[in-house]
Parts: sequence; C-alpha cells; structure tokens
Amino acid sequence: MDKLTIRDVDVHGRRVFVRVDFNVPMEDGKITDDSRIRAAVPTIRHLLREGARVILASHLGRPRGKVSDALRLRPVAERLSQILGTDVRVTGDCLGAGTQDAVRRLKSGDLLLLENVRFHREEEANDPAFAKALASYADLFVNDAFGTAHRAHASTVGIAGFLPAYAGLLMEAEIRALSRLLEDPPRPFAAVLGGAKVSDKIKVVEHLLDRVDVFVVGGGMANTFLVAQGRTVGKSLLEAEMVDEARRILAVADQRGVRFVLPVDAVVAKEVTRGAEHKIVPAEKIPNSWSIVDIGPRSRVLFDEALAEARTILWNGPLGVFEIPVFGDGTRHMARLLAGRADAGATVVVGGGDSVAALDQLGLAGRMTHVSTGGGATLEFLEGLELPGIAVLQDRQPAPG
Ligand code: 3PG
Repeated sequence: MDKLTIRDVDVHGRRVFVRVDFNVPMEDGKITDDSRIRAAVPTIRHLLREGARVILASHLGRPRGKVSDALRLRPVAERLSQILGTDVRVTGDCLGAGTQDAVRRLKSGDLLLLENVRFHREEEANDPAFAKALASYADLFVNDAFGTAHRAHASTVGIAGFLPAYAGLLMEAEIRALSRLLEDPPRPFAAVLGGAKVSDKIKVVEHLLDRVDVFVVGGGMANTFLVAQGRTVGKSLLEAEMVDEARRILAVADQRGVRFVLPVDAVVAKEVTRGAEHKIVPAEKIPNSWSIVDIGPRSRVLFDEALAEARTILWNGPLGVFEIPVFGDGTRHMARLLAGRADAGATVVVGGGDSVAALDQLGLAGRMTHVSTGGGATLEFLEGLELPGIAVLQDRQPAPG
C-alpha cells in the first residue's frame, strides 16, 4: 500500500483525531451488528498502547444536520467500552466549549468519542470552518473509516487540509485486500455477484470484465441477464431498462473468454413474503405469475463447479431473498462453499451487507481472507474509482535508489 499508516508515525503524547465508521445497524436502540466497531479496535488499541491521546469521531445514520436522540452514539460507546474493557466517554456534541475542555484533559493513553458529526450540516457539506474546528483538537488525523471513504465530508476529507493524514489499520487492510483483487489476483479469479439490481453493480461488472475469469451471478440481478438471454422471469424483479446493457455485457464476456454463469433453476414463490407457496422450477420454465426468490439446487451444483478451481473469489450480494430464511438456502450454501474454498487456500474476499450477514449468521466470517466493512465504498473501490477519503492520506515516498 502506498499510503502512510499509523505505524509510520510516533504518536506518543500526541492528540490523534481518528475518523471511524461506527455507522452500525440498530433496532430499538440496540446494535444488531457490531462488526464495524470490532473492526476499528486494532487501530484504537495500537494508538492507546503507543501513548496517544485519542479522539474518535463517527457518523451514525443520516440525521441531515439535526440532532436526533435515536442517532446518538451512546450505545456505540457502551459497546466499545465492553470490547476495550475501559470506560469510553462520549461528548454531548462534537463542537463546543465542553468538548474542547474534554479534549484538553485527555492524557496519554486516554480515549474520547465525539457525538455524531452529522448532527451538524457542515459535516456533509465539507465546510472548511467546521473541518478546521475538528482539526483544532488534534496534532494528527487518522482515517480508519473505510466504509465512509467514498464521502468527501469534513471529518473524512476536509480535516486532512489542516493535519497530517495517516491510514488506520482497518483502512490499510481494506485497501490491501481490495487492491489485490484489481491488480494482482491469483488466477483463476471468480466474482460472485448477487443482490437485487444490476444497476447497482453494473460499473463493478464493467471494471471486473477485464480482470476476472469467471462471473457467477444470482439474486435479483440475474433476472435481467436471464431476460437478456431470451428467457422470461414471470413476476420477478426485473430492470427492463438494463436488458440491453446486460446483453452487451454477455457479448463482451463471450468475446473476452470470460465464463458467465447464470442460474439454471430457481425457487419461485407466489408472493415474496414469509410463508408463501413456493417450488423449484428450471430457469426456462418460470411461471408467469410467480417470482424468483432463490437459486435452485442444480444452480448450486453448477456454481460449486464454476468455483472449484478458483484461487481468488470475490463475493458481493445475496443469491436470493435472504432476509426471508426459507429463501436463503442459496446464499447460505455460497457462504459455506466459500469457507471451504478459503480453508483450501483460495483468497476469498466478501463485501456487502447481506453476504456478510449470511457469514455472520453461520459463524463463518473468520474463515474468509477478508470481510469488507464497506457497502457503497467497497463497490466504488471495485469500480476503480479513487475514494476521496483515501486520496487525502499522505503518500509513502518511494525508497531512494
Ligand atoms: C455506509 O454505511 O455505507 C457508510 O457508513 C456511509 O453511510 P452513508 O451512505 O449514510 O454516507
């Protein structure tokens, strides 16, 4: 990685502003998935161990510049306190005299969490005065918020105009794992893509077309490709306006010798709801008034075979309506298959909320080479875009000679 990291700087006694992505899913005030908090812990522990005075900042949700009690960071501070085994204080606001005072009192090895930075509209506007106020707390800026690196906001980008900027350890791990896929993947390289819409992932498909040997496509997005191949998909989710684009992609893949694997059978349901009547049918016989909700058993075997030789596998997106457990077999099967492939030595990188949720549900996340904490950020990285929150970090100078 060509960016300086927290390992390249002496932080002892220095005040370090660390942007993390603690934008975790919550239900009734409770965190339902703490993986983003756990993922930031190596950076926090490193800085505390090295004697830094640590100021953490994050957003939570989209309060659009207004204070919202439901989006306060207290539950996050509590979870972080449990993980670190130390009390993590959270300020009442990320600005103001009280916060300045709390920052001033920090000693070497102390930690403070600022309240949700998006309670100020200046955060998302990347307002220079707001960025300068945040920067005034610290001597150094560390960006460990990979999940927010695609946003050019005051606490991810603007602040780097006022302080020397370093990558945190999570940021470093994400950049390493994802760059490897784009630059130098052990071959064969296979991408397994799912999720509802082709339009969400079309640019990723486009960018990977030059790089992968195999595409395996499931989920709602496969329907558009099935229609592009002349099949009908009943009442299933379909982006009719993307069919021509899907046809073009299939043709390019064919020209370049990229294998494009689509489902050959499907679980179809009368309604996309819990308890709905469902059955397995071949992909060429999807009934008119039914919807595809998962890949079928023959597709699972086909996908296994397509991935059997792969030495690098990227997985992003569920293969069916995974949030309804009975339509989640294909997604869970993929999670187990990839754990096996990773155990056998393949490099397996997984991104995207639902695919990661499937891994977590089955306790398989730890067996993957890398599980990305990004949603939109991971997709933009895989599209080949330069993420603003990474671009602002200091470059490592090449060694002389
Ligand atoms: C995410 O959850 O993808 C990041 O935290 C960014 O959140 P945002 O989409 O609200 O900017």
